[in-house]
Amino acid sequence: MSGPSKYVPQSGFEKWIDKRLPLVRFAYDTMIDFPTPKNLNYWWTFGAVLAIFLGIQIVTGIVLVMHYIPATDRAFMSIAHIMRDVNYGWLIRYMHMSGASFFFLAVYLHIFRGLYYGSYKEPREVLWGLGVIIYLLMVMTAFMGYVLPWGQMSFWGATVITNLTSAIPFVGESIHNWLLGGFAVDQPTLNRFLSLHYLLPFVILGVVVLHIWALHVPGNNNPTGVEVKDVEKETLPFHPYYTIKDAFAILVFLMVYFAFVFFAPEALNHPDNYIPANNQVTPAHIVPEWYLLPFYAILRAVDFDIIPGIFTAKLGGVIAMLGAILVWLALPVLDSSKIKSMRYRPLARIFWFIWIANFIFLGICGAMPAQAPWTWLSKIGLVYYFLYFLVILPVLSKIEKPKTPPASIADSIADAPKGEEPNPNIVGVVQN
Ligand code: HEM
Repeated sequence: MSGPSKYVPQSGFEKWIDKRLPLVRFAYDTMIDFPTPKNLNYWWTFGAVLAIFLGIQIVTGIVLVMHYIPATDRAFMSIAHIMRDVNYGWLIRYMHMSGASFFFLAVYLHIFRGLYYGSYKEPREVLWGLGVIIYLLMVMTAFMGYVLPWGQMSFWGATVITNLTSAIPFVGESIHNWLLGGFAVDQPTLNRFLSLHYLLPFVILGVVVLHIWALHVPGNNNPTGVEVKDVEKETLPFHPYYTIKDAFAILVFLMVYFAFVFFAPEALNHPDNYIPANNQVTPAHIVPEWYLLPFYAILRAVDFDIIPGIFTAKLGGVIAMLGAILVWLALPVLDSSKIKSMRYRPLARIFWFIWIANFIFLGICGAMPAQAPWTWLSKIGLVYYFLYFLVILPVLSKIEKPKTPPASIADSIADAPKGEEPNPNIVGVVQN
């Protein structure tokens, strides 16, 4: 854990357990003493926010399953039962529903932060890769959870998305039937989706443990992207400095979340999902939840056969959609600039801002009906999405002339504009 342990067992019990299973030492090294760069800003608090939301989703989910009935003719009514009859069932359900949205909001801020400050670069490639796996698992979990209420959007969303597997040449149809447990979305599909929706959050939890382990080996990146050189001068113990900062961020984030839970719980939900699933009536527009819209736009943007009969539009869309996430894995190779933080990469920074705007723009396209102008606007969005990763970043890493980053984190803090009061928390550095 970034250096030798400084834990000294105090009580008799601590000494006894430390020789057998050093759990207290582990907790001390990772959550109390862990040397954390002094200059982290609030974008570094979303990891903690995410951990809280994973907990909220698991706890509320377990309670929901106690009352939910995974049967196609009763699932919808069991949700109504939770809302009306179960003590505080409405609160548990709204927390779980809005919790999914806020979990994704936090994960996007966490990912965008990583892209901006180059947190995917050496030596954090594994940490980043584990994050991408977590994100993929989150998408799968959210998708299967949305099917459980068995509303119109649940049913038709499941039908559209599972149908994508049939685009795989030769074996697609078999995979499709195997996934559904039949020839259409029905009872066997609901059973397996509930089973996996319950299982995957625990898999996510396991990968999060690896993610945080992989964080604690190289330690945190920081806004300058310059690695810690002098642990004494440039870091603070995680507790109390960052426990307090994270707790503050978590409280603020929870306030916004609970404002939605209590005052606008349906704001992010689609009204069609309050109509029981009906396999004879297709909704006018089938749309996923807001957090999947950018990828849905990418899927629909490929609406032309690339090689008719072989490389169909459907297959192209699926590859583009999956590729849009998997390309993140290749980032440490694609972006070879030695400078991590976009603070010192004036050109790359502009393209990063455009990429974020484009991601939101793709989300808007995904929410719109699949017709002009949205179809061709999505194509423009798709092109820029991939251009950024596959061309702009690789080329900029070769030709961009970055600004000179500070020689060390200590320098970056000491360089605060003249006349600014020294922060008493970082006295050691400012005086140097
Ligand atoms: C359940 C989801 C997740 C949890 C609980 C989680 C947790 C954390 C925590 C606690 C940290 C340290 C504090 C911080 O930097 O905010 C962290 C750092 C990091 N996470 Fe995650 N994370 C999650 C998902 C992701 C995803 C989806 C990605 C990327 C695709 C990712 C990439 C990173 C990176 C690169 C860092 C290091 C940041 C740095 O030090 O600059 N994480 N994560």
